[in-house]
Amino acid sequence: MWMKNSLTYDKIDGIPCVKCILAKTSQVNGGSSVGALGEGLRRYQKQGFCSFHTPGHKGRQEFFNDLDFLGFDLTELPGLDMFHAPSGIIAKAQKRAAEIFGAEETFFLINGGTVGNQAMFLTLEDTASKRVIVERSSHRSVMAALVLSGLRPEYLRPTIHPDFNLALGFDVEKQGIPWQEVAACHVTYPSYYGTAFNLNQLLDERMRWGFNTPILVDQAHGSHYLGPLFPPSALKLGADLVLHSSHKTLSSLTQSAMLHVQGSRVSRTRLRQSLELLQSSSPSYLLLVSLERAGEFALDGGRWECLQEEVENLHRQVESSFRILSAKDVGTYGIHTIDWSKILINTLSLGISAPRCVEYLRKNFGIEPELWDEENILFMLGIGNTPGDIQRLTKSLESLAKFAHSASRVESEKRVKNKRFRIPPPPQLVLSPRNAFFASKRQIPLKESLGQIVGETISPYPPGVPIIVMGEQMTGEVLGALLTAGEGRWQGWDGFKSQTIWIVEER
Ligand SMILES: Cc1ncc(COP(=O)(O)O)c(C=O)c1O
Repeated sequence: MWMKNSLTYDKIDGIPCVKCILAKTSQVNGGSSVGALGEGLRRYQKQGFCSFHTPGHKGRQEFFNDLDFLGFDLTELPGLDMFHAPSGIIAKAQKRAAEIFGAEETFFLINGGTVGNQAMFLTLEDTASKRVIVERSSHRSVMAALVLSGLRPEYLRPTIHPDFNLALGFDVEKQGIPWQEVAACHVTYPSYYGTAFNLNQLLDERMRWGFNTPILVDQAHGSHYLGPLFPPSALKLGADLVLHSSHKTLSSLTQSAMLHVQGSRVSRTRLRQSLELLQSSSPSYLLLVSLERAGEFALDGGRWECLQEEVENLHRQVESSFRILSAKDVGTYGIHTIDWSKILINTLSLGISAPRCVEYLRKNFGIEPELWDEENILFMLGIGNTPGDIQRLTKSLESLAKFAHSASRVESEKRVKNKRFRIPPPPQLVLSPRNAFFASKRQIPLKESLGQIVGETISPYPPGVPIIVMGEQMTGEVLGALLTAGEGRWQGWDGFKSQTIWIVEER
């Protein structure tokens, strides 16, 4: 069946898709898999999807030539250095990565970008204020970092883009950063969708007011920001600690990442200690060697250049059918830069939901996006994509537009927009996320939760911004919003179906 599908894709478009080729190769090679997981992976692979999701290598063998997967799966043996106290080959590879990405020092991470965010917060010196600035729309690893560090959040509020109903940026001037009272300012640059606020302005503001507050940047989705094709890297702009989730867009293996540091605002010793505390004592050399190679491949701007041309063509072909995020959006709704390698489309104007569109794209064109919600689909490029992949995506989107035109419209754009979730004003923080996490809790009926300190973090998705964070006090507005919450995707709400909520017990 897969063979038929793969051949059909090739025949329709005449464009080779990396994943199709790999799927065929593995079929020819045979190989038996044992167990549900192995079977599931094999079954998935056989479908030959074209990847518009992480990891960035997209299954291309060329990034792993000369890499002996079994032979290199080693532990810290003589001559192989020590991950937590490197002085040999690991130190050398990290030094080279620092050179490539423009850091003073680089740490390879083997527990994903997640551990980078957590280590950033543990690195902060104990301050009297014990508060940290974070975006309310941060990744959940930042919320975990709050729990681990005990720091209290001072939230930056994102601007919700009306066309996409997503948090795509914010206005630095309007935020009023309380520099004097915080241990650090943590920001995400770029967002999952490739948009970014004005980081330069934030850094300028710190200097203008004469503060020494460390600026920590989650650049998980922008490891590839090297050279003129992309927005400037946070390191180049002057951030103190910068996280790259290298596996997302570069060629390293899933779960590999890098944490870069420059300047003297954060203690290197404490950073080392934090990473040692959080990371495995059995580092995977496969992850490490893949990071080393990813740095070298990242220098090859030509790989991205040919993709950019195809993306421009895609925009030209489909912009009359979809609302597609583009360079024209720069300067609006807190968006200062846009990364063209993230393709975000909104399907409202088609009159069919994004999940249905994804079904069409997967079934008919073997296109696998990174993520989608009720009205948006995100296609993410990586260094391993080919121009052919983007041509395939362009054709599939043109075909989708035609299909939508002929299909019966289930919902008008206006109706869907009216049904969208709107974020109520943020409630008061009573307990730090750490204290709320460790407090004893009980589940009560949602309708009885007014005034209670909530013990879980609940986010509607989209836009993925928490409506209430653990440790905050339930307000009438939030309760009203939750009681009328319809179906849809909720993150972190254990009792959505039973209409219950976790609250902190009286202390
Ligand atoms: C903005 C952001 N930061 C950090 C992470 C965590 O990275 P990783 O998945 O490599 O642990 C993610 C993951 O999606 C993310 O989107």
